[in-house]
Amino acid sequence: MKDWWKKSVVYQIYPRSFKDSNGDGFGDIPGIIEKLDYLKELGVDALWLSPVFDSPQDDNGYDIRDYRKIYEKFGTNEDMDKLIQEAHQREIKIILDLVVNHTSDEHEWFVESYQSKDNPYSDYYFWKDPKEDGSEPNNWGSSFCGSAWEYCEQRGQYYLHFYTKKQPDLNWENPKVRKEVYDIMDYWFKKGVDGWRMDVIASISKYTDFPDYPEEPGKKYYTGHMHSNGPRLHEYLQEMNREVLSKYDCMTVGEAPGSTAELARLFTAPERKELNMIFTFEHMNIDRIPGNVNRKWALKPFSLVDLKRIMSEWQEKLNGYGWNALYFENHDQPRIISRWGNDTTYRKECAKAFATVLHGMQGTPYIYQGEEIGMTNVQYELKEYDDVEILNGYKELVQTEKTISEEDFMKAVWNKGRDNARVPMQWDDSSNAGFTSGRPWLKVSDRYKEINVKEALEDENSIFYYYKKLITLRHTREIMTEGDYHLLLPEDETLFVYERRWKNKKWLVAANLSEEKISVEKIKPYLSDNGSIVISNYNRQQISDILMPYEAFIFEIEV
Ligand code: NOJ
Repeated sequence: MKDWWKKSVVYQIYPRSFKDSNGDGFGDIPGIIEKLDYLKELGVDALWLSPVFDSPQDDNGYDIRDYRKIYEKFGTNEDMDKLIQEAHQREIKIILDLVVNHTSDEHEWFVESYQSKDNPYSDYYFWKDPKEDGSEPNNWGSSFCGSAWEYCEQRGQYYLHFYTKKQPDLNWENPKVRKEVYDIMDYWFKKGVDGWRMDVIASISKYTDFPDYPEEPGKKYYTGHMHSNGPRLHEYLQEMNREVLSKYDCMTVGEAPGSTAELARLFTAPERKELNMIFTFEHMNIDRIPGNVNRKWALKPFSLVDLKRIMSEWQEKLNGYGWNALYFENHDQPRIISRWGNDTTYRKECAKAFATVLHGMQGTPYIYQGEEIGMTNVQYELKEYDDVEILNGYKELVQTEKTISEEDFMKAVWNKGRDNARVPMQWDDSSNAGFTSGRPWLKVSDRYKEINVKEALEDENSIFYYYKKLITLRHTREIMTEGDYHLLLPEDETLFVYERRWKNKKWLVAANLSEEKISVEKIKPYLSDNGSIVISNYNRQQISDILMPYEAFIFEIEV
């Protein structure tokens, strides 16, 4: 089918936390194969695997040492071949993670590049001379704290790294680098993969005059608009499309921090021949104070009005121009019900309510492992955490700069830390949640006895079966894919309500994203006697006078 990804639901697997098959405490590819029938039961069309390639794991595989080799703890290249084959047998596609803004510092290109200014790889990365006083070439910061530059004695120069110093940025100005990337993509396409999620793809083109960010009091290093959407970005993506993507029936989704809905049109408009969709960060940043020295750890209360405004803008601006990637969770984001909802009394209702508003939209929905059973955030002591973003943030902000107290930092970690999503998948109520027979690389959530796949599969009203129903709707109802979108009650602080329209049908998608009981009067004007419930998280056949806490439904009206 042409554009199969428009009717698809993608499930993201974070391999090290999904299922361990050999008891080393680390998820692996045979573990994924074991669970393919479970994923088939859920009904998803494609699996996006976070990086599975050989890596020293400084940033959990987002630092690749060899793009053609599977990381040994995940298995072998043969295991990967088998996964592709077994998934395809079940009509499930495989999307891999293309991390080519940077490599690992242990990649052979960087090892060579580091040696001297005159070897074949010397300009595979960005190297710059120090300023006269020996300091960094400019004030750019790394996303994981500190400067984005690291000094190398051998060359007497600094190299650029937007992430950790073990993740040097590739120099896409160099055509040889681009060719290397296209070859890697070809290699995996030939093995049968069906597409790519592209890590921080909006950062591959740099502002090569490397200007400083304007200075602000109390700040030494800066991350901001010069870290993404550089001048040659779209040229590179068009070249990549021409050289590789156009030759395969594939799907692409680019991670694009710093991009607006207008920019999303540039990436995704079909006639521009770049990508199929991009992940926005705009809706994920609504609880963050822009420019704050404590970065993502400076919390701002959740505003439903902001969430609706941003998501609606993307719906409206891309309709007919490009395509949306719909998500609330991934391996970098905390669990949505813990972040903006209720993960205790109304856990199940709340998980279904967020799922309803997301899956009711136009675009390709992404489910992050565990989201379909309502997994929650965790609250650990610092020593239990593994994530380099948390550990670097603690060192720099709490210990060195002292810009945030330990207490506030830990609160922010419990709310926003990436390890919330990375704790092992909860399969059943046996020890370590059935994830491993060994010692898990990251502590399992205390709530696994209550929240696990086994429990969900045995309960016909589970979050799992609600997701399954939403996925079936996406496969069977044209209005879900094609319908246009119109936000209702934009200023309402508890209700997320919108309409979809297609041919002679209208859908009213409504969710009460609060613990309050709300009179149905607010949405009465948009209802009709001539309609029926498509899906309801309170199992209603008819709409009642009160919208209960986290109640959500889709109501279909003939027009
Ligand atoms: C985005 C990835 O999703 C994240 O996990 C990673 O740390 C950075 N890019 C750097 O690759």
